[in-house]
Amino acid sequence: MSTHRGEFNSKLGFILATAGSAVGLGNIWGFPFQVGSGGGAIFVLIYLAFCFILCYPIMVTEVAIGRKTSRNPVGAFNALGFRKWSFIGKLGIVSGFLILSFYNVLAAWSLGYFIEMLQGNFEVGQKFTQFTSNVPLIAVYSVIFMSATAFIVSGGIKSGIERTAKLLMPSLVIIILFLVGYAFTLPNAMQGIEFYLMPDFSKLNLQVVYSALGQAFFSLSLGMGALITYGSYFSRKEDIISSVAYITLADAGIAFAAGLMMFPFVFSQGLAPNGGSGLIFVTLPGVFASLGPMLGVFIGALFFLLLSFAALTSTVSLLEVPVAYVIDEYKLERKKAAWLVAGAIFLVSIPSILANGASEFFTSFVHYFGHDNPKSFMAMVVDVANSSLLPLGGCLISFFTAYIWKKENLNQELRIGNETFEGSFIEKYIGVAVCYLCPFILGVLFILTVLDLYFGIKIIT
Ligand code: PHE
Repeated sequence: MSTHRGEFNSKLGFILATAGSAVGLGNIWGFPFQVGSGGGAIFVLIYLAFCFILCYPIMVTEVAIGRKTSRNPVGAFNALGFRKWSFIGKLGIVSGFLILSFYNVLAAWSLGYFIEMLQGNFEVGQKFTQFTSNVPLIAVYSVIFMSATAFIVSGGIKSGIERTAKLLMPSLVIIILFLVGYAFTLPNAMQGIEFYLMPDFSKLNLQVVYSALGQAFFSLSLGMGALITYGSYFSRKEDIISSVAYITLADAGIAFAAGLMMFPFVFSQGLAPNGGSGLIFVTLPGVFASLGPMLGVFIGALFFLLLSFAALTSTVSLLEVPVAYVIDEYKLERKKAAWLVAGAIFLVSIPSILANGASEFFTSFVHYFGHDNPKSFMAMVVDVANSSLLPLGGCLISFFTAYIWKKENLNQELRIGNETFEGSFIEKYIGVAVCYLCPFILGVLFILTVLDLYFGIKIIT
């Protein structure tokens, strides 16, 4: 059933491709900046707890649904016999579409910064808004990035997605380890590490909890069917439980390493770690400039190359979700599907390209109730997709699995390729998490987030 759709060559291929989806801008750009603005080590602790306690079981569930059905997220619910519930998959496809529409802009900036660093143009950090509002330039980078993504996806599972991940993931690990090692040699590196790793419990509040949850979901590519899709190409001879554990560890490990690199960088220049989303694009070029022209170009270019590699394996998985849907459900040929969907997503990303200084309308696009400042179109898409739709998707997927598809069917799929699963602690834990912890905690946090974010209503602070 699965061969004509394609399948990963090996367990390692699946792990690398899925880790490639998970490790992305979320780890290297998002995680450090959220740690920097969200109270330092306390954010790290909550983030790691969410990754392993709530997200791991959901990832296992998504992969199991995908492998069981060999379908895209919409077809998967139909194939299980629950057509009514395929709206969860549709919601996932919409989320993926929205995420790629802004992710592509960030990826374009990363690629652009790589070129700027190669030219030794460190002032780009101070001229960030000038850079982002240069629409023709960003549009060109964005077309290059989307075309690379579409090219890889059109190559199929083995020769496109898996081959790219096998090349880029090891390179990414080598680059990040090198940069962490280098960052530790900088003056005041330990001050940065202290900020990163010594928790200050007075900084704990609900905002930190929401952000850590949203970050964990986004970083692990959960809640939108990306893992259902990749799971649908995973061999029925292999074990889901250990594969997903490696993927979770790799993702959390790379995010953790990104923090080990970032805070020594930032503190070595006596800069503040709370630069928000500008931490990388505004603050870091100044750090690279201080290393001198030769070393600055080398380290700066290497950093943005790392960021671009990480982004590429993620944009590939974001595109693969709607592409798999179009191929399965509308019987379109893969190449056509990949270029068509990529083109459509590029069109949707145009308002986001304009939302960073070029157009006042899109830059100050909405004013949520109870908030002082307007938000840009791109920031709104980030809120809708990351902070709202992903946790909602996770809540619905766990609810569906627990109460509609049923835990026993999940366990049956998880036993394939894993002889010790039956009766194990992990079986019991996944059962408790999927039936009780995930739907409840995610449901409550989703409601609290929506009330707070869009309406300014804080039930708990
Ligand atoms: N996990 C990716 C990152 O951290 C983003 C992503 C989200 C990819 C959802 C696929 C699906 O950057």
